[in-house]
Amino acid sequence: MEEIAIISDIHGNLEALQKVLEDIDKRNINQIICLGDIIAKGTNMHECLELVKKRCSVIIKGNCEDYYSRNDIDISELPQSSQIRRNWIREKFSNEELSYLQSLPFCYEMYISGRLVRMLHAHPNGIDIHVGNIDKIENLYSIFLPSENTITQEKADIVLYGHSHMQYMQKLYNRVLINVGSVGNSIDVFRNEEKDANIKNTVNANYFIIKGKMNSRDYDVFSYEFVNIPYDIEKEISKNKDNVDFEDYEEEIKYGRYRDMQKVKKTFSNRGIDIDKI
Ligand SMILES: [Fe+2]
Repeated sequence: MEEIAIISDIHGNLEALQKVLEDIDKRNINQIICLGDIIAKGTNMHECLELVKKRCSVIIKGNCEDYYSRNDIDISELPQSSQIRRNWIREKFSNEELSYLQSLPFCYEMYISGRLVRMLHAHPNGIDIHVGNIDKIENLYSIFLPSENTITQEKADIVLYGHSHMQYMQKLYNRVLINVGSVGNSIDVFRNEEKDANIKNTVNANYFIIKGKMNSRDYDVFSYEFVNIPYDIEKEISKNKDNVDFEDYEEEIKYGRYRDMQKVKKTFSNRGIDIDKI
């Protein structure tokens, strides 16, 4: 069986990315696919992009590549902190690099041991649509459907995606939905002091390995593995003294707490789910 490592949501965390690539090399896996959000958040985002370009055979566009490389956004409409963040990120890249980020594909598809595996950043209908593990079944199912952004118009058997920064697998209607997790910015939005387990379950670097017969429509052996590996979080923080969002970045990578919980709560409450009562 061949193996492919799938990485996502690196978010400029160079320490975590290097550790993940070392682990992939130790396993002699020579194909890596990236599901996007290489940039934004950590200060070493340019170095992360260089490494991903060097090591990955396929790079899919994330919402951060899309948003920060766009030239059609009127920044005067944004709050000042968002303007500062946007300028700080864009200044790290040349115009050619920003055009490159904008040109990245939305989606990648291949058959593995007879299953149509679709890989994308967030959702077939949009690069910034959030689907979480506690979502309603119809929302979870919608991620298997094709759209104008997908390569084929088939329903996927397996979907691999990122965006929510939390590894999980959900099986429904004989299909498998897999969030590969985040290399550099793992979070858990369901928090409770009494119920919380060891924080390392969340804040380690996460990636995913899929195994099977690549580009084969014959139904055959198929397996996968979620990988969660420690890296030097303090060293990553020490390299981020110039980060315009230093406190938010530190809080996220050290404790796995997302910087904007109001946004998460609103997304779920719009779907009738109160995440404080789960
Ligand atoms: Fe992300």
